[in-house]
Amino acid sequence: MKLSVHNLTKDFGGKLAVNNVSFSLSHGVYGLLGPNGAGKTTLMKMMVDILDPSSGEVLLDGVRIKELDAGYRDKLGYMPQEIGVYKNFSARKFLKYIAALKGITGKTADEKIEELLDLVGLKDVGKKKLGGFSGGMLRRIGIAQTLLNDPKILILDEPTAGLDPQERIRFRNIISELSENRIVLLSTHIISDMEFIAGEVIIMRNGSILKIDTTEKLLQEVTGKVWTAVVSHSELNGLKKQYTIGNIIQRSNGIEVRIVGNQKPSFPCETTKPILEDVFSYYFGGNVL
Ligand SMILES: Nc1ncnc2c1ncn2[C@@H]1O[C@H](COP(=O)(O)OP(=O)(O)OP(=O)(O)O)[C@@H](O)[C@H]1O
Ligand SMILES: [Mg+2]
Repeated sequence: MKLSVHNLTKDFGGKLAVNNVSFSLSHGVYGLLGPNGAGKTTLMKMMVDILDPSSGEVLLDGVRIKELDAGYRDKLGYMPQEIGVYKNFSARKFLKYIAALKGITGKTADEKIEELLDLVGLKDVGKKKLGGFSGGMLRRIGIAQTLLNDPKILILDEPTAGLDPQERIRFRNIISELSENRIVLLSTHIISDMEFIAGEVIIMRNGSILKIDTTEKLLQEVTGKVWTAVVSHSELNGLKKQYTIGNIIQRSNGIEVRIVGNQKPSFPCETTKPILEDVFSYYFGGNVL
């Protein structure tokens, strides 16, 4: 299975939200990463055929999705950035309703719903009304809903937004489990999510693709370009003017800074093993995401 985007562009009255983007996805988890307004949601909406491109096309195994139409939608699970739910519905009733909309009814629907409630850890609260659910529980219902038709292509727009650390781990694990034999594309602002689940990362900025690579390759690229030093507050202010500063950690003996750049800084510091956040500091100047 191959999902390709060819020269995809969306022009919102002069604003190029997505600008001539091309790439191909095959099995695995792909992370779409970029700052606010980069064009992630617009790109995803075109990929799930709820927004028409200004130009370019999306192809599944070489066939335009517009031609495949319902045949494409049957293979697709989409979780929008804003999940709308019916607050007075219980979790089970909501899933049953969405299943019916997708043409899944009767015993097949009931069995699938129980399986999914179990997968997302909401079996015990299946009778509870969605109005009383936390943000994380709603995200989990959102993913269960997306999975009702057992889609082979999953497009998830910020599925981990607003989750607490425990829920984030649970979610990552669910996605990793699902990724076998599927194409999963998920957007996030949370770089550490990428480090754990995405095989490949698509970095987007101002409507364009800046980089597509495996996390390993991205890390390799900044190997030898990340340094740490412990400095004072006033030294830090000076460094900020000269270097790209990554993470700053308060230590008992001062402030530990990570500096990312092509040249070794001209003060005492040591090279360190890069983390994915350093890659983004390198490309975005340390303060964009
Ligand atoms: N319907 C619209 N009409 C006009 N401009 C739009 C519309 N939708 C999005 N845009 C603009 O297109 C650009 C990309 O928006 P988009 O929502 O795709 O970004 P994003 O990467 O998903 O951002 P975020 O991280 O905040 O979700 C932004 O500048 C946005 O203001
Ligand atoms: Mg968005």
